[in-house]
Amino acid sequence: MKILIIGSKGMLGKDLMTVLAPYEPIGVDRAEMDLTDAAAILAKFEEVQPEIVINAAGYTAVDVAETPDGQQEALAINGIAVGALAELCAQRDIPLVHFSTDYVFDGMKMGEYKEIDTPSPLNQYGKSKLLGETLLQKYATKFYLIRTSWLYGKHGKNFVQTMIDLGKKGHQLTVVNDQIGKPTWTYDLAESVLTLLVEHRPYGIYHLVNEEAVSWYDFAVEIFQQLEMPVDILPVSSQEFSRPAPRPRNSALGNTKFPLLRSHKDALQQYLSTL
Ligand SMILES: NC(=O)c1ccc[n+]([C@@H]2O[C@H](COP(=O)([O-])OP(=O)(O)OC[C@H]3O[C@@H](n4cnc5c(N)ncnc54)[C@H](OP(=O)(O)O)[C@@H]3O)[C@@H](O)[C@H]2O)c1
Repeated sequence: MKILIIGSKGMLGKDLMTVLAPYEPIGVDRAEMDLTDAAAILAKFEEVQPEIVINAAGYTAVDVAETPDGQQEALAINGIAVGALAELCAQRDIPLVHFSTDYVFDGMKMGEYKEIDTPSPLNQYGKSKLLGETLLQKYATKFYLIRTSWLYGKHGKNFVQTMIDLGKKGHQLTVVNDQIGKPTWTYDLAESVLTLLVEHRPYGIYHLVNEEAVSWYDFAVEIFQQLEMPVDILPVSSQEFSRPAPRPRNSALGNTKFPLLRSHKDALQQYLSTL
């Protein structure tokens, strides 16, 4: 099984490289293959002759995507490039694994978003990811479209690390308590991808997340409780903690097609023990 992992130096990409190591995956990142360069993608496919492609690359700067330049870049990387990958994989009759986000939903639903729910993104990042979803489903014949949320892991900037860094400085922290979602450890997600592939699960859309929805505030409290760090955290509303990109109020993803991943509390505990 010759696996090409695109975005292999990103937060999720690095954990995918680790979990899939027994299959000796070939990892590429922007320096070796820029996703906005169609000729570079084709040349890499010719060189590697992959049997499975996993696209863990993406434009993930949610707030910068609200600027005109950011919006263009997000659409190119998260949208158009995914269509190009999907076409190439279809021509070669090979599966494409791609990651999307809870931010394709508007957050107005009462309850969890299921795989079949209709996306309606609020921000430019979500819109660019939705374009990727649309082009993937239009061109790819064999695909796993994996929506996930609130990722944290050892190899990238993320909420858990930010909380720890701020907590160590000893200031009072303000964290929003009116956005609900499912924090997910990239390592658990990578292991689920391996299961999808080795068990030849049916192609289609999957919601892969650690379980039990929380607010960012609840999650911050959980992080400091597990670390036994006494930090003063103040719950605030999204209005009080305004950012350029609007976020969905409720972006809890419901996984109805795959064995549920463990709770975010258990995942967090193991993650923290590896730091
Ligand atoms: N982080 C989250 O909370 C979250 C939540 C839901 C879904 N997702 C999705 O999960 C996937 C992985 O996210 P992540 O947090 O692991 O992202 P990440 O840490 O930002 O890594 C993304 C990787 O993609 C590479 N990349 C960016 N533009 C590229 C281009 N034009 N050509 C080739 N490579 C390029 C980046 O390289 P550079 O460092 O050089 O830019 C980086 O190595 C993405 O599809 C993201 O949308 C993330």
